[in-house]
Amino acid sequence: MQRNLQKSLAFFAILAVINVGNAQDLRNVEEPKTPESCTSLKATGGDDTEVIQKALDSCTEGKAVALSSGVFYSGPLTIPSGVSLLVDSGVTLKAIPDPKLYDLGANTCGTLNEYGVGCRAFITMQEAKGSGIYGKGTIDGQANVTMTGKNQTWWDLSLAAQKAHNYQNNPMLVKINKSMDITLYQITLINSPFYTAAAYETNGWTVWGLTILASVRNTDGIDPVGCQNVTITRCYISNGDDAVAIKALTAPSRYISVVNIHIGSGNGFAIGSETNCGVRDVVVANITTIGTLTGINIKSNYFRGGTVENIVFDNFCAIKARRPVFLDMKMNNLQGPNMPVFRNITINNMYSLTKGIIALHGISSSNSIEATLHNVHIAKGSTYSEYHTKITGEFEEDATGTRCGTFGNE
Ligand SMILES: *[C@@H]1O[C@H](CO)[C@@H](O)[C@H](O)[C@H]1NC(C)=O
Ligand SMILES: *[C@@H]1O[C@H](CO)[C@@H](O)[C@H](O)[C@H]1NC(C)=O
Ligand SMILES: *[C@@H]1O[C@H](CO)[C@@H](O)[C@H](O)[C@H]1NC(C)=O
Ligand SMILES: *[C@@H]1O[C@H](CO)[C@@H](O)[C@H](O)[C@H]1NC(C)=O
Ligand SMILES: *[C@@H]1O[C@H](CO)[C@@H](O)[C@H](O)[C@H]1NC(C)=O
Ligand SMILES: *[C@@H]1O[C@H](CO)[C@@H](O)[C@H](O)[C@H]1NC(C)=O
Repeated sequence: MQRNLQKSLAFFAILAVINVGNAQDLRNVEEPKTPESCTSLKATGGDDTEVIQKALDSCTEGKAVALSSGVFYSGPLTIPSGVSLLVDSGVTLKAIPDPKLYDLGANTCGTLNEYGVGCRAFITMQEAKGSGIYGKGTIDGQANVTMTGKNQTWWDLSLAAQKAHNYQNNPMLVKINKSMDITLYQITLINSPFYTAAAYETNGWTVWGLTILASVRNTDGIDPVGCQNVTITRCYISNGDDAVAIKALTAPSRYISVVNIHIGSGNGFAIGSETNCGVRDVVVANITTIGTLTGINIKSNYFRGGTVENIVFDNFCAIKARRPVFLDMKMNNLQGPNMPVFRNITINNMYSLTKGIIALHGISSSNSIEATLHNVHIAKGSTYSEYHTKITGEFEEDATGTRCGTFGNE
């Protein structure tokens, strides 16, 4: 995978680089450095929640609690401000699948209801500054394992919610809220019961070199929600929903760079559907998707609408995407008072190598999708579902081959 990513970058290197203006993360982001450890823990094989939490609470600011050998089992953990968690190579931290441990008080975690907000996350950073998760080890949400006291897994519950048209109360794997300068580096995150790593109203978030694996709906990979100065780079994401979804529910999302990402399965790259407070100044570059539902997906509606503007896609390769480009201002036709606006969206150097549906759905002739295309090549035989758009440039139906450069669909 790493090797393929290297080759893909070599391929992209020969393409023109466009000026993305000030759309990207405004910080100067370099590869993170793993902090020194304040202590090293070995797994006992039993429930290690208390041991890990105590170590985190008593760790010196600027240092990390290292999980250095074995398989750890734990309930929910909180990473304090300034402190990090380090999961060493070969070590796994498993979330004990007991809904009672995550319940927020209403005894709904692990059940279906109308809200789906009954659980705390497995790992929480709340009002933290300079915290992070590091290491080449694995954090396993165990969503594929039968819940304690139940006959379903967390993922069974997600599928049951889909059938019942309501919501599963499942924990996120990593939740960051109202924080600053947070880093996730190298870690592998698997089997999340719900969103894998989501940050809310956080300024300064670096996600570098992660591997994210999951299946089933609502296992979003990386979600910045109302965040500014975000860099997501060098990640491999294969899941059952959006690989990356930039949202703006209670605060604007701005200055976000999503660069060098390899996506296998799932929905692809998304902005929305919650865009209430506006999503602006985003660069999405050097992306490959293989076998996803969509490639580039910007989605909203009157229920969750807001302004999405100054978005640049550069070097985007979609293979076997059902909808390589899907810009939808009327997602599920949901109604409400929030007018979506999609403007100044640039797609530069895109290749969609297999035929799919190009779907561009604006609201009206006075509120159209405003986008510019440069060097956008799609496979012959692709179809269009297009209304209320102001598109400059065109989809050139001349993409050939089965790979982007020297890597691809193997
Ligand atoms: C995309 O990759 C190319 C080749 O490695 C690099 O020159 C370019 O800067 C990358 N784009 C961004 C926005 O980092
Ligand atoms: C984003 O980063 C820039 C450059 O470091 C900084 O000046 C600005 O205050 C940051 N914005 C927020 C909202 O943190
Ligand atoms: C859950 O997934 C992990 C790794 O993804 C796998 O090793 C394990 O066998 C699975 N467990 C069950 C019960 O399916
Ligand atoms: C799980 O339990 C519920 C109620 O306790 C029951 O209705 C259902 O049939 C069980 N499912 C399986 C697969 O055993
Ligand atoms: C973030 O924290 C604030 C309290 O500071 C809380 O009101 C809000 O609900 C939290 N947001 C999420 C998404 O948990
Ligand atoms: C469109 O977005 C690009 C990229 O953020 C920005 O450089 C440019 O100024 C924007 N154009 C307008 C008219 O806002």
